[in-house]
Amino acid sequence: MRTEDGGWQRCHPPCFVRCLEFAGRSVTIRAMIQRTRIAQILAAPVPAEPAPVTVCGWARSRRDSKAGISFVDLSDGSSLTGLQVVIPATLPDYADLVKRIHTGTSLRVDGDLVASQGKGQAVEVQAKAVEIVGDLDPEAFPIQKQATSLDFLRTVPHLRARTRTFQAIMRVRSVLAHAVHRFFQERNFIYVHTPIISGEDCEGAGKQFRVTTFDPAKAPRAADGAVDWAQDFFGREVHLTVSGQLEGETYACGMGDVYTFGPTFRAENSNTPRHLAEFWMIEPEMAFCDLDGDRAVACDFVRYTVTEAIRLCATEIEFLEKQQSPGLRASLEKLATSEFAHLTYTDAVAALKKSGAKFEFPVEWGVDLQAEHERFLVEQYCRKPVVVTNYPKEIKAFYMRVDPDGRTVSAMDVLVPRMGELIGGSQREERHDVLVARMKEMHLDPARYAAYLDLRRFGTVPHAGFGLGFERLVCLVTGTANIRDVIPYPRVPGWCP
Ligand code: 4AD
Ligand code: MG
Repeated sequence: MRTEDGGWQRCHPPCFVRCLEFAGRSVTIRAMIQRTRIAQILAAPVPAEPAPVTVCGWARSRRDSKAGISFVDLSDGSSLTGLQVVIPATLPDYADLVKRIHTGTSLRVDGDLVASQGKGQAVEVQAKAVEIVGDLDPEAFPIQKQATSLDFLRTVPHLRARTRTFQAIMRVRSVLAHAVHRFFQERNFIYVHTPIISGEDCEGAGKQFRVTTFDPAKAPRAADGAVDWAQDFFGREVHLTVSGQLEGETYACGMGDVYTFGPTFRAENSNTPRHLAEFWMIEPEMAFCDLDGDRAVACDFVRYTVTEAIRLCATEIEFLEKQQSPGLRASLEKLATSEFAHLTYTDAVAALKKSGAKFEFPVEWGVDLQAEHERFLVEQYCRKPVVVTNYPKEIKAFYMRVDPDGRTVSAMDVLVPRMGELIGGSQREERHDVLVARMKEMHLDPARYAAYLDLRRFGTVPHAGFGLGFERLVCLVTGTANIRDVIPYPRVPGWCP
């Protein structure tokens, strides 16, 4: 900021504009515009007197009245509602100026904020000067004022942020991400940054993306003709992580309650509205905790984040309800307050078989539940979220604790309306000998899991955790049908724009 003697002093909090000048860096005049955010204008009381204001943004639409006035709906992304800008014909170059304003043109407007004379908005800006910051060719710009389909918008992910639907979804996403941290921080969990490049294969399924510096055509070969990974960057084969769980466990077995929240990667060829190859996962891990404790935290966590979204994103939820998901708010309110049902896998299978419902995949004890089964349990059988626990050990990962019956493991899946599985978790196998036996049963080499086994050798403790797919939560809260529409740049088989 400017000091009394005409010098510059750094502001607290830093003022982007002047502090860059203060720091002696060259910035263009455009980066320095001191503008008022539209959200701030709309939140303030209607001014009694005309109040000078500068706003910048992109035109959503332009309408010219016969009386020689143009109305521009201006958006700067700070709120879903735009600001009406009134451009009087008395402005110099009025005719040339308004011809250049199309959906998407960027503008700077200096004028007076006044109570609106028209219907549909409380305030408007009477423009005194309008600068076209960036022109566009309306024939070439793919985003039009009329609602554009989500399918089409997926082909132009770099322009999706210009649409209200994406602005609403992304604001909910941001609020949810913050709520995730608040939930765990309020409970004194430690945020652990587990690695993205990993030598482990948490799910034991082997569908991972390889990380290498080798040129595929010239990768060195060992005597047997196989690629010699020992010569690669890390001196071994490594992959992008599928889950931060195993590393999370090492911190839980030392610091108690921890969580990780980061990107995870799966190279499964799953072309469904619920799968991404790159998605964000929240994984808490708790020492001295069993499956019941795990389930309680998972249910509280879902209710908390949904409650926070309702509290902080009422406008976005209302907009999305109209746009794409009738009944959204009521369904979220129900979710935020309901006790989740609890079924064992065995009871769930019995219920599915007894239901008489026709499923594409028949159900038998021992098969994995498909999305159609999960949705039936939630939407028809329990009519609320359900936690299914104690799955057959054959269909679950090696690290889940074997139940006393020897047939099932202490696993849980939290199933929610529309999405099916939102959370997968378990109590972990803390008994060294049982874990080694399970690894061998599943053809995993215990030598590769030495660090994981050490936790069981040196002061083992019962512990449990879960993973929540963040994009599935965003789908649920925004009522979005396809997971590709709740992440800025979806990565799916055959598609990485
Ligand atoms: O059930 P998953 O595979 O469990 C794990 O990864 C455990 N290691 C978690 C843990 O116990 N710490 O994945 C957990 C959740 C799923 O319930 C789902 O919501 C989400 O991650 N998920 C995906 N989301 C989007 N795209 C995919 N391909 C996903 N795979 C799993
Ligand atoms: Mg799962």
